[in-house]
Formats: sequence, C-alpha cells, structure tokens
Amino acid sequence: MEQPEQVVELKRELEEALSSSAFNYGQILELATELSSYDPEFIRFTVDAGLISRLGRELVAKQETAVSELVKNAFDADASRARLTFIDCDRRGGRLIITDDGHGMTREQLINGFMRLSSTDKIHNPISPRYKRTRAGKKGIGRFVAQRLGEKLIVITQTENSSYALKVEINWSDYQGDRELTQIANQIQEVDKLRDYGTSLQIVGLAEPWSLSQTERVYRYLIDINGLGLERFGVFVFEYVFLRDSQNRYADIHVQQSFFFRKDIACQTLALF
Ligand SMILES: Nc1ncnc2c1ncn2[C@@H]1O[C@H](COP(=O)(O)OP(=O)(O)OP(=O)(O)O)[C@@H](O)[C@H]1O
Ligand SMILES: [Mg+2]
Repeated sequence: MEQPEQVVELKRELEEALSSSAFNYGQILELATELSSYDPEFIRFTVDAGLISRLGRELVAKQETAVSELVKNAFDADASRARLTFIDCDRRGGRLIITDDGHGMTREQLINGFMRLSSTDKIHNPISPRYKRTRAGKKGIGRFVAQRLGEKLIVITQTENSSYALKVEINWSDYQGDRELTQIANQIQEVDKLRDYGTSLQIVGLAEPWSLSQTERVYRYLIDINGLGLERFGVFVFEYVFLRDSQNRYADIHVQQSFFFRKDIACQTLALF
C-alpha cells in the first residue's frame, strides 16, 4: 500500500532526528505522536494539556481541601512530620512550602508516579512500607490541586539511598489548551540534598490569600484521614510556620501552632505546643 506523502515525510524527519547528534527527545516524541495519527488501522486517545488546568480547578472547591490533599500524600509516604510554611500568605502571590520526612521519590518514582496521570502505585501498594498505614490515595490525581493553589510548583525530593536530591519545576501556565500534554517538558535537576529523605513542595505565587482560620481548617479536613481506617497512624506532627515579609525581608514571626495528634491517644486530640 502506498504511504501518504505526510507519512513519508514524517518518517524521514524522525529518522533524521533519531540519528542526529543533538538528540532532541521532545522533537522525537512529537514526530512519533504525529506519525501515529496516520495509522490506518487504529486510532488512539490523546491528551490536551488543558486537562491539567481543568483537573486543578475541578478537583476541589476550596484551597483548604487542596492543601490537605498534599499533606495526605506526605502521610501516604510514611512521613512522621509535615510542616506547612506560609510565607506572605495574607495576600495573593505568597508562597506555601509543604515539607515532609516521608520516603521521598527516586527519579523512576517521580516519572512513573508524580508525572503520570492516574498513577496506580497506591492501588498496587495500598499499605505503606514503614508504618503500615492504609494509604489514603487511590485515584492518582490528587497532587494536581497544586495547580489550583499557585502559579508554580517546585518539587524537591530525596530518598535515603540517594546522594543527591531531585528538583522539578512546573509552571502551570505552560499547560494551556491546544497543545499535546506530552509535549510540555519540565526541567529536572540533581541538587544538594535538603535532608536525608523526604519531599518538599513549594507552591509559588499563591492564587488566593490565606487566613489563619483557613489554615486551621486544613487540619480539620485531615482528621478525616483517620476515618479511612488508619489504625497504625503512629505519630504525625502537623506544624504551621508563618513568615511575613514586613520590610521587604522575610522574618520568622512565630510558629503559630503545631497540631499534634496521635492515634493511640485519640484521633481528635489536639494539643498545642
Ligand atoms: N509527598 C510525597 N512523597 C512521596 N511521593 C509523593 C508525594 N506526593 C506525591 N507523591 C507521588 O505522586 C503520586 C501522585 O500523587 P496523587 O496525590 O496525585 O495521587 P494518589 O495519592 O496516588 O491518589 P489520589 O488522587 O487519590 O490522592 C503518588 O502516588 C506518589 O507516588
Ligand atoms: Mg494523593
């Protein structure tokens, strides 16, 4: 069967791209995807990049629920501590950093878990390795709430066995409609470790201001994860730090409160310290 002219041209371009010394993964992917659209026997679903913004907007109505989704991921990663640092959060454009001491992600876990929609890791591994928690995550889409929260997400993650951390920057504005999702590349770098293991999510350019009562609501939403049957909850410290930039510099005003709850005391026990 004679091949359409476009197919011949695409194959030629793909061969050229594959043999080029300046190997361009993005170009190869684009050409291969386009080529597959000429498959006479099969057609495939493709994904418009605008889906990411849609997910971010439609997953949760409130920013408090959005943050609790991200803390749930820390819990699922066997963290014993999640620290929420709000910087300049009383106005739009502030920053929120969620740091946990969970197991972190390897490059492979970042690619096949964090960067994969509807990732199935928690379906295959519903119990966490260290504390044997029943993981809260199921759908593989929760972390897209980060798109609803701010303009940019910086992920820094490290595992115990690695000698470096991995840093990925995601600019949500890149995920506009009319582009193929896989065409949008996010830079990954090896950087110095921030800690032995764990993950830090920095939400830069907060979309909305945060009041103290909203931050407290995050905690209240998280009490629900007890309801999911987290018998071996262990200790999970949930801590807020507020930093405000008063004279154009960051000053640690105070640790507003730390919520400390322990399943063996009572799941609703709330002690301030
Ligand atoms: N703080 C974290 N520490 C380690 N891995 C994380 C962290 N946050 C996200 N991940 C990884 O990213 C994946 C996607 O997280 P996401 O919240 O989107 O989905 P999920 O938790 O599997 O399911 P759900 O949509 O029900 O929350 C997780 O399965 C996990 O592999
Ligand atoms: Mg989740």
